[in-house]
Amino acid sequence: MQQQIDQYTAEINTFSPANADELETFRIKFLGTKGIIKDLFDQFKTVGPEEKRTFGKVLNQFKQLAETKYNDLKEGLTSDVESSKSENDLTLPGDGFNTGTRHPLSLVRNEIIDIYKRLGFVVAEGPEIEDDWHNFSALNFPEEHPARDMQDTFFIKKNSGTDDIALRTHTSSVQVRMMENGKPPFRAIMPGRVYRNEAISARAHCFFHQVEGLYVDENVSFADLKQTLYHFVQELYGEGTKVRFRPSYFPFTEPSAEMDVSCTICKGDGCNMCKYSGWVEILGCGMVDPNVLENCGIDSKKYTGFAFGMGIERIANLKYVIRDLRLFSENDVRFLDQFKTEII
Ligand code: PHE
Repeated sequence: MQQQIDQYTAEINTFSPANADELETFRIKFLGTKGIIKDLFDQFKTVGPEEKRTFGKVLNQFKQLAETKYNDLKEGLTSDVESSKSENDLTLPGDGFNTGTRHPLSLVRNEIIDIYKRLGFVVAEGPEIEDDWHNFSALNFPEEHPARDMQDTFFIKKNSGTDDIALRTHTSSVQVRMMENGKPPFRAIMPGRVYRNEAISARAHCFFHQVEGLYVDENVSFADLKQTLYHFVQELYGEGTKVRFRPSYFPFTEPSAEMDVSCTICKGDGCNMCKYSGWVEILGCGMVDPNVLENCGIDSKKYTGFAFGMGIERIANLKYVIRDLRLFSENDVRFLDQFKTEII
């Protein structure tokens, strides 16, 4: 019996079927109801108690060997068949691959840039780490202005005011750099990230994005400002969107205003996005203060200009009805994937 088992073991170990039929023959031969293993177990019943002890173990091991071999070969054979099928079958659908999506803030920024480009504005950029002069002093911020305060500004180096270094709190700093380094006329927009020391919540964040704009030339008036922004809103939100200007204050513009648009969600009827007022504020603007022009080496008797600034998050909130600012920076694919159709 031992001899027989050794022989079969060698046969099993070297067995390598060319196809499923050969494997089936193997199964019937060893594992079938009339197969070798069944036969060996039948023989086993007739041996004496002494042999039973030794052969019981050997026989079980042999049975296991045959079963494992069969199962392994069967698995190999089926996966081979499947893979050769998909390799050769050209009618099967291809593997899908995921395309990335533009971030909603990029979509909105690009849209804003496109509108102003058509009006002849160029795009200007500047550093996110700024000195006091470009972020505050040149822009006519008084020494004691609250925006310079520790509460609002992330200071990197805080000394005596004029040599402070901070993360820029607005992209108006780029306007200063542009005016200092060039000659009028200027017609540019400044998109970029800005930082303010605020607790993170659904309605506030320690960083956000702005697009600011600057137009300086001879005879630029508040009428030019109004018409430019009116046109921008018609392009962004569609013909018929209403605008209104409310007097406001910024150190670097005089006069200053805030601009509201008729609520883009309820079209002015009242909803919780516009707090039932029918209007939503989207930007600050004004005529560049002559002090700012002079600080940047521009003759304020000859040149006038207007400036405006808006938060990209705010515009995106209104456009996509996103109520929690934190979604913009969490990189949750479930959120970002929703902008798939908007790839441009
Ligand atoms: N810099 C202002 C802000 O960050 C926006 C602004 C820009 C207002 C230009 C008026 C003119 O809030």
